[in-house]
Amino acid sequence: MAITIHENTGIFHLHNSLISYIIKTMPNGQMGQLYYGPAIRDREDFSHLMERGHRDMAPCIFDGDTTFSLEHLKQEYPVFGTGDMRYPAYEIRRENGSCITSFLYKGYQIYQGKKELPGLPAVYVESETEAVTLELHLEDPVIRSSLTLVYTIFEALPVIIRSARFQNQGEEDWELTRAMSICLDLPDSDYDMVDLAGASLRERYVDTHPIHQGVQSIHSMRGHSSHQFNPFLALKRRDAGERAGEVIGISLVYSGNFLAQAEMDTMGTLRVMAGIHPQGFLWRVKRGESFVTPEAVMVYSRQGLNGMSQVYHKLYRTRLARGYWRDRERPILINNWEATYMDFDEEKICSIARKAAELGIELFVLDDGWFGERDDDTSSLGDWQPNPRKLPRGIRGIAEKVTAMGMAFGLWFEPEMVSRQSRLYEAHPDWVLGSTDRPICAGRHQYVLDFSKDEVVDYIGDQMEAILGSSPISYVKWDMNRSISDLFSAGRDREHQGTVYHRQILGIYKLYDRLTKAFPKVLFESCASGGGRFDPGILYYAPQGWASDDTDGAERVKIQYGTSYVYPISSIGSHVSAVPNHQTFRRTPLSSRAACAYFGTFGYELDLNLLTEEEQEEVKEQIRFMKEHRKFLHSGTFYRLRSPFEGKTAGKEAAWMVVSQDRRRALVAVFRLLQPVNAGYDRLKLEGLCPELEYRICDRDYTCFGDELMEAGLILSDWANGVRTSPVVQGDFRARLIEIDSL
Ligand code: DGJ
Repeated sequence: MAITIHENTGIFHLHNSLISYIIKTMPNGQMGQLYYGPAIRDREDFSHLMERGHRDMAPCIFDGDTTFSLEHLKQEYPVFGTGDMRYPAYEIRRENGSCITSFLYKGYQIYQGKKELPGLPAVYVESETEAVTLELHLEDPVIRSSLTLVYTIFEALPVIIRSARFQNQGEEDWELTRAMSICLDLPDSDYDMVDLAGASLRERYVDTHPIHQGVQSIHSMRGHSSHQFNPFLALKRRDAGERAGEVIGISLVYSGNFLAQAEMDTMGTLRVMAGIHPQGFLWRVKRGESFVTPEAVMVYSRQGLNGMSQVYHKLYRTRLARGYWRDRERPILINNWEATYMDFDEEKICSIARKAAELGIELFVLDDGWFGERDDDTSSLGDWQPNPRKLPRGIRGIAEKVTAMGMAFGLWFEPEMVSRQSRLYEAHPDWVLGSTDRPICAGRHQYVLDFSKDEVVDYIGDQMEAILGSSPISYVKWDMNRSISDLFSAGRDREHQGTVYHRQILGIYKLYDRLTKAFPKVLFESCASGGGRFDPGILYYAPQGWASDDTDGAERVKIQYGTSYVYPISSIGSHVSAVPNHQTFRRTPLSSRAACAYFGTFGYELDLNLLTEEEQEEVKEQIRFMKEHRKFLHSGTFYRLRSPFEGKTAGKEAAWMVVSQDRRRALVAVFRLLQPVNAGYDRLKLEGLCPELEYRICDRDYTCFGDELMEAGLILSDWANGVRTSPVVQGDFRARLIEIDSL
């Protein structure tokens, strides 16, 4: 692995055995982009890769050279106002209103490892030799300010991580109105764009569409990364699929507003960028101050979408998620939300907990409704004191009862919110976001606390610390149930207002940082009305996240399938809930609900007392199964095999599998969403097994070598060689789990 610099030719070559990324100082002093793709041999000069042509109409003719048009050249971090007509990576507005800047190459620095980003989540290294970082220092001599482009390349992964740092060293203050984390110019546009789109209850559906001339984008302007789009996009060659082909992934380590876009120009080149959404963003950088963007993680794969996802899984599971729980087996939990909603008392909770303990569950989570006067969603957020009517001996009392049953105890909070009806809002009406001279929108009867103010973050931190410190609490579910609408921080000056969206997220990160440091052994699970803030930024603080409020056994397959594009299954909170399902009113078999939830952190969200004895026995067996398999499931390699979104299985079926790190065992799941009629023969080609190893397949009386399972496939048709392969596969919403172990 290396970063090779050719000073004479101005070439910076970042490379490892898998990828190369080549940058060059252009004749005008700005930075150009020459190549990104599979590793290529280094050489003194790659300047010939800078394609040019006579562009007479182009406004930028540098030094009389009509072939030098910034509008047509591939660049690293382009600017508006010096001849490029495409979208810029950043924009600076000076005091005189001018938005023209030009940052020119000054020098570079290389160091082993990777630095933290102040106040922001970031991928980290555990040893300096895992990665090397290049910082390119650029300067605008007119505003006497610097721009540092930061690139970290990992040694053993096709990963480059990028961010940008602006520093005002001049005499005049200026404003950043746009500051992307990454801009990637590519020589052609023959890609499909893949993103994860959806809505509440159907988060992260896979959305694939051909790139066309102009801009195509995804975004959030809701103050959180959102149910609607995830801060991720991939460029996939048209012939690439899950198993093979070229894919470039871009994932933003950030939880707030974002913009990710691909722009195809008239010459067929492609500009991709991702970063904080410019809408509502205006950051004044005063003399001596700086601004750092969140980072973006770029993954290159020649092994198709699965190849890309597996790199993200590995990196995010081991070098983004942190702390005590990162590598530990996650507790199997029961959450009372769908069992009781807010209608509970200590006895009801204890009856669910007792049954859970009896069946082998390890953690009980008390959800919304334990504090203030909260019997419905109209009151009490912000008043983080237990309701004595429901919990006469407080949180400590219930936590002690649960822990005496042999389970750990967890608690729900919604730290960033305050109810209109609450003592906190009465005392501090100025602590909410919104303008005091007009009505403030109260989504779900609640306001968003102004986390751009340190005193608000500190106050909520004190309340939470008091509760967490007073009782045996080992888990926190951190919820967030409304988007930000009224963007205004009362009592702060004009200048502060353009920073509020970003400062809000920095405030959330600050609180997470404080609490995870104060309670390092507490497991944090993030949540935002289900999966409304399921992103890499939050994963840095909370190693697992509630993926969706849709717990339907069939819907959940689609949600987890899409989520797996970027996120490791150890981060995907998934539970078995009651039927008929509370969101879709559908009845799916208990076994199918569990089959899907095994490919996540696993838990239950129902009153187990209401199950029949037979069902309780089934639950007991599911818990035993998960305890036996979770270690390898969470650390193994995940492969998507059949898509519920695309191709001939769309809407009808999905399949995936996990292979253990030593490739000696695997678990395959086939989800039949709709039962076909008089179905044809069916084989499923497996992945990731060792070709020379002989495997036992749980549901048949013969063994197979890995190569056969991967090349000839596993017969899924009802009959194989006169023997029925599975008695349970008939009917809608059926899942089939196939355990595969080497002899
Ligand atoms: C939304 C979450 O996604 C649910 O699981 C539950 O915690 C509710 N909020 C509680 O208000």
